[in-house]
Amino acid sequence: MKFNANYQKLKESYLFSDIAHRVNAYTAAHPDQKVLRMGIGDVTLPLAPAVIAAMEKAVAEMGKKETFRGYGPEQGYDFLREAIRADYAARGISLAADEIFISDGAKSDVGNILDLFDADNTVLVPDPVYPVYVDTNVMAGRRILFADATRANGFLPMPDPKTEADIIYICSPNNPTGAAYSVEQLQAWVDYANARGAVILYDAAYERFVAGEGLARSIFETKGAEDCAIEFCSLSKTAGFTGTRCGYTVVPHALVRGGVHCNKLWLRRQTTKFNGVSYIVQRGAEAVFTEEGKKQIEANLAVYRRNARRLSSCLDELGIFYTGGKNSPYLWLECPGFTDSWKFFDYLLEEANVVGTPGSGFGKNGEGFFRLTAFASEEATEEAAERIRRLLRR
Ligand code: MLT
Repeated sequence: MKFNANYQKLKESYLFSDIAHRVNAYTAAHPDQKVLRMGIGDVTLPLAPAVIAAMEKAVAEMGKKETFRGYGPEQGYDFLREAIRADYAARGISLAADEIFISDGAKSDVGNILDLFDADNTVLVPDPVYPVYVDTNVMAGRRILFADATRANGFLPMPDPKTEADIIYICSPNNPTGAAYSVEQLQAWVDYANARGAVILYDAAYERFVAGEGLARSIFETKGAEDCAIEFCSLSKTAGFTGTRCGYTVVPHALVRGGVHCNKLWLRRQTTKFNGVSYIVQRGAEAVFTEEGKKQIEANLAVYRRNARRLSSCLDELGIFYTGGKNSPYLWLECPGFTDSWKFFDYLLEEANVVGTPGSGFGKNGEGFFRLTAFASEEATEEAAERIRRLLRR
């Protein structure tokens, strides 16, 4: 018996578990200090009333013989796939309902999708990057290339025709940098992928934060994306589903490589390894796409946007360079006076009792940078901004 040796190549623990351990150790040693958590991008506002009402109704259905449901379709109930299809259609993106697969979140499917690809493929990920893209490929022993995202390119690397990548990860608006690609910039990536016969894995978990003119919410806003791209989306950040778990993955029928139809492969994988998201949660997710649900989640998103503005104003006043915060719930700042982002993490935790995420946890180009989220409560964000102002103004 042999374990997967690739796991030995991983860092000992996942970035956000690491941070949680450090913060827990700090709070245990300083029980009377109020620590404000702006580290992991976890939402704080409750589910929308329309979602709760739909889930309560579904719970009642499950309690009656006539309406009880057992196993659902592995790829999701038609009512939810149709609601998502209509949501894309309203944005001018035409999808078939059976191109949409309901998942328990983007993080799971971003990892699961790798089942479809040979270990021999070369993967291209931006640096800095959401650690899941790297770790899941390390687990499979794939070769990983990095596209440098730096201050010089606005943290939006563009394709280099000389790079021989087979699988390309793009996250826009980006985690961790908050930078968002325009439709025109994404078109260059789609053209590159199609020219190479590569596949793009597009993480759109933060798409509802996009506000700027010309910026993309979906890769399917570009021409030819249906031939090369898979899109992962989530209700976690947009509708408060981090604890409820529901997302969706779009695998177009047109995505064919070497005569193999990706949609068919994914269906085969899902029907074998997945038993679907619970009926109750899918009914709640369906409510997100109703007129009432949309209004209610927009009200919550407005709170997070206000929080992002609070943090931006604080950084503007202090003259600290940052990206994000405008089309994204993340602010990515240069650590003032520190070159080591873990040292800045400790400084902020100890001197201001504010938790963020050290940039180096996202890759080598993240060193010297730091991520703050806008997902805390308005009160906590206001207080954190004030503490940061006081600490860094000195
Ligand atoms: C983050 O903080 O980067 C995210 O919350 C992590 C995730 O979505 O899994």
